[in-house]
Amino acid sequence: MDYSKIIILDFGGQYKELIARRVRECGVYSEILPHTVSAAEIAAEAPAGLIFTGGPNSVNAPDAPTCDPAVLKLGIPILGICYGMQLLCRLAGGEVERAPKSEYGRIRAETDPESALFRGLEPRQTVLMSHTDRAARLPEGARVTARTAHCPAAAFEREADRLYGVQFHPEVELSHHGTEMLKNFLFGVCGAKTGYSVDDYMRARIEEIRARVGDKRVLLGLSGGVDSSVCAALLSRAIPGRLTCICIDHGFMRKDEIRDIREAFADSDLDLVCVDASRRFLDKLRGVTDPERKRKLIGEEFARAFEDEARAHGRPEFLAQGTIYPDVVESGKNKSAVIKSHHNVGGLPEKLGFEGVIEPLSGLFKDEVRRLGRLLGLPDKLVDRQPFPGPGLAIRILGEVTEEKLAILREADAILREEIGRSSVRADQFFAVLTDSRSVGVMGDFRTYDYVLALRAVTTTDFMTCEYARLPHRLLAKISARITNEVRGVNRVVYDITSKPPATIEWE
Ligand code: XMP
Repeated sequence: MDYSKIIILDFGGQYKELIARRVRECGVYSEILPHTVSAAEIAAEAPAGLIFTGGPNSVNAPDAPTCDPAVLKLGIPILGICYGMQLLCRLAGGEVERAPKSEYGRIRAETDPESALFRGLEPRQTVLMSHTDRAARLPEGARVTARTAHCPAAAFEREADRLYGVQFHPEVELSHHGTEMLKNFLFGVCGAKTGYSVDDYMRARIEEIRARVGDKRVLLGLSGGVDSSVCAALLSRAIPGRLTCICIDHGFMRKDEIRDIREAFADSDLDLVCVDASRRFLDKLRGVTDPERKRKLIGEEFARAFEDEARAHGRPEFLAQGTIYPDVVESGKNKSAVIKSHHNVGGLPEKLGFEGVIEPLSGLFKDEVRRLGRLLGLPDKLVDRQPFPGPGLAIRILGEVTEEKLAILREADAILREEIGRSSVRADQFFAVLTDSRSVGVMGDFRTYDYVLALRAVTTTDFMTCEYARLPHRLLAKISARITNEVRGVNRVVYDITSKPPATIEWE
C-alpha cells in the first residue's frame, strides 16, 4: 500500500460519510471509526492524519462523547470539524461556551491565507455553519485563523503539534472552497501520499481473498443487484472455479432479469445456479394481501430456499456477502474495524455451519462499488441498475399476488422502462404498479372491465425523500398508449404525482 490513510473519528455527525468520501476523492484512503477507539488502536493503523467529525451534542454536556486524550499526544495531525473543533479546543486546554447567537446556513468568513488550511485561498470565504456553541478561549499556543460576524474563533490552529479546527463544514458543497481546505490539510499538513483508487482496493482484496480461501470453496447469493453482482465478479476474478453463486428466482423479478444475470456472468469462471423457486413463493403468498406480511413471508421463504440450495451444493466453507461500507457504518459494525474481526449477518451462516464470511466490498461506497464493477467488466445495465426491492414485483402488485397479475405487471413495467430509457428525461427510480382496482373501458365495440395500472417515476439522491419526476406529457401519452394497446388486462393508466413524504416510493 503506497498511499496514506486518514482516520475519521465519529462523534455522531451527519456528514461523517461525506468527509470519508471527500478524502477518498482526493486519492487518500479513509476509514470511519467510533470515537471510543483507544490511542494505541489508532497508532496501530498508522494514519497520516485524523479528522474529528461534527456531532449533535455540546462538549460541555456531562455525557458528551469524547475520545482518548492520548490521541492528541500521538504526534498525528488532527483536523476537528464543528463539534470536533470544540472537542479539540477543550482537550487541548481551551474553553467552549454557548454562543449568544447561533449561526446556520451559508456564512461569510474571513480566513487567514497564512494558515496552512487556507493557503492559496481568497481571504473571504463562503462556508456552511451550523452551531450553537463556540470556542471561547483557545488552547495555549493556538491562534485564530478565521472569524465570522458571530464567531470570533471560527477556525484555529496550533502549528507546534499540528492541531487544526474549523467551526464550519468544509466537506459540503455549500462551503465553496471546502475541498481545497481539506486538500491543504491532507497534503500541506499531513503530507499524505495520494494514489488510493478502486483499482488498488481491488488488487488488495483479491490477494486477501486468495490467501484466506486457499483451495476451499465460496458460496454467494446473487440477486442481480449492484452489490451482489460486483461481489460475484470480484470473487470469480480472485478465485476462479471456486465460487458457486445461487440466484433464487422467487418469481417476482422483472422481465428478462434472470436472462440478463446469466448473460453478464456467461464468461466468468463461476458456477451459477439459477433456481426457479416461483411455485413455492406463489403458494406461500396465496390469499395474502397485507404488505408487511408479504415481505415477511418472502424473506422467510428466501432464507429457506437458499439453505436448501446451499445444502444441495455441498455446503462450501465460506459464505460471501455484498455488504458495502455504509451498511457497516450504519450498523455500528465498524467498531470491529480496528481488530478486523469478521461478523455474521443474519442467522444463515451459523445454521449452515460456514467457516467464515467474506465481505470484499465492505470498505467501499456505492459509487466506488459501481466503479469496481466497471473495472471488472460488468455491463452498464447491471452496474447502473436502480434499486429494486428484495420482495420484487410482489410489493408492486396491490393485494393478492397471482401469476396472471405478475404477467401483466411484468409487460407493462418493461414498456415503461424501455420508453424512459430511450428518452432524455432524468429519473432515479421508475416502475409500474398494478393496483387492485378495475375500471370500465371500451375496446372496439366491447366494454372492458380491466385493471388500473399506475406509473411511478421519482427523482432523489438518497431515496429517503423524493419528488415525483416531471415526465413530459408526450412521453406519458406514449407509455399509456403502448401499455393499453400491448398489455392485455389493463385499460387505464394513471401517473402518481405524489412526493415522499407524504407518500413512499413504493406503493406497498
Ligand atoms: P420507500 O417505498 O420506503 O422506498 O420510499 C425507499 C427505497 O427502498 C426500496 N424498498 C425496498 N428495498 N426491500 C428492499 O430491499 C423492501 O422491502 C423495500 N421497500 C422499499 C425502494 O425501492 C426505494 O428505492
